[in-house]
Amino acid sequence: MNSLQQTLSAQLHDKSLHCQAQQAAFDYLDALACRRVFPDEQALKALSVFEEDLPEQRGDAQHVIALLAKEGANATVAQNGGRYFGFVNGNALPVTLATKWLADVWDQNSALYLMSPISAKLEDVCQRWLNQLLGLPMHTVAGFVSGTSVATLSGLAAARYRQHQKLGWDINRQGMFAAPRLRLILGRQTHGTVAKAISLLGFGSDNIEWVDCDEQGRLLVACLPKLDEHCILVLQAGNENSGAFDYFSQICPLAKAAGAWVHIDGAFGLWAAASSHFAALTHGFEQADSWSVDAHKTLNTPYDCGIILCQDAQALTAALHQQGSYIQYSEEAVQKRDGMVFTPEMSRRARGTELWSALKFLGREGVCELVFQLHDHAQYLAQCLSKTDFTVLNDVVFNQVIICCENDLLTTQTLEFVQQSGEIWCGPSRWFDQAVIRLSICSWATERSDIDHAVSTLLDCKTRAVDALANR
Ligand SMILES: Cc1ncc(COP(=O)(O)O)c(C=O)c1O
Repeated sequence: MNSLQQTLSAQLHDKSLHCQAQQAAFDYLDALACRRVFPDEQALKALSVFEEDLPEQRGDAQHVIALLAKEGANATVAQNGGRYFGFVNGNALPVTLATKWLADVWDQNSALYLMSPISAKLEDVCQRWLNQLLGLPMHTVAGFVSGTSVATLSGLAAARYRQHQKLGWDINRQGMFAAPRLRLILGRQTHGTVAKAISLLGFGSDNIEWVDCDEQGRLLVACLPKLDEHCILVLQAGNENSGAFDYFSQICPLAKAAGAWVHIDGAFGLWAAASSHFAALTHGFEQADSWSVDAHKTLNTPYDCGIILCQDAQALTAALHQQGSYIQYSEEAVQKRDGMVFTPEMSRRARGTELWSALKFLGREGVCELVFQLHDHAQYLAQCLSKTDFTVLNDVVFNQVIICCENDLLTTQTLEFVQQSGEIWCGPSRWFDQAVIRLSICSWATERSDIDHAVSTLLDCKTRAVDALANR
């Protein structure tokens, strides 16, 4: 053993380093409920401690962990507390966090069955459970990716493969240069990651056919262009601002009859399909060809945990297939899943492990309860705010609440004070050309008292904003 190996081996067996990190993590969790949601100026300034040159010599491992635990932790965003309403960021259920700690020690690569039989098994089980939970056709396959951005890229790659193949073109071999032209059809309120995927796939965002939406951001069925077998149509389960769902039961049969491929971006909203309470929103969504969803949002697994679900297994695997003389596939053997055939990556962390633990722990009943609780809090928030002089702009159908003040300047100033306060955190957006404050309820830890806290913080900040603007 050389001297580095001796040091590493001693660190591994002595475990004091791991205990130090574990203690720091427990201290962090204990203080979570009282900490600022966004770091203060002092904590941000202290980040300069990380601005050093690459060390020339080996350092002290305990010092590495201590530095991270002290200055690093102070500059985190407490999104796993109950008062974070920004973006659509979920929390981590304790059982999934504990699972991640254990699985991090295993450090599995889930590319191939031969790299990790346990990861392959749990991915396989998750695929089956997701189909049962969401009411998808049981032949639907799942790829476990970093997030919805990559899930959508994968779904649209499968769509491109299949639609070209139906037109007599092998996109993998013949490429895009002389390919038959496909038509990409998106609602004007589609999430930006879809246009990104379209650009990455070589279609060009200028070639998108945009369809007008109603006042909630739902694609207007009457405005859909005539669909055909050249089309890839992207729908939404959960608009990023309003939370609205497209009219799947009207649109999917039309698309199907025309030979169009339908992909649904359900980053946070697809989980609504787990609960009969939201049946009116998701009705007909199972007729799509592919779906993208994040477990790290509504299901509250740790980051990163995205999923591509696709009814057309052959299209997905053909679009993402990779060869290599050293790759030993096992996929032909029954129940020996090679996860990489369903994803763009080869090496991947075993994120299916945390997904499995969330589903195993919650069960169908627990998922329904969690999904309903988040939505219930969103409704409560909207009810409280609508009794004030904030305006609630959306029909609160799932998790999202968008509000505004009397004018854009006041909305923006109020939000600035909210973000500075550290009491809660939420972000800005634009809704039909109006500045809005966007709140998402996506953490299991959020309680009614956190919503009350959010309401009083918003009201205080608005009062301060009125004064600040008057004194300008
Ligand atoms: C509707 C929608 N689609 C896509 C995404 C992107 O997901 P990810 O950040 O996991 O790539 C988000 C993120 O919030 C979203 O809300």
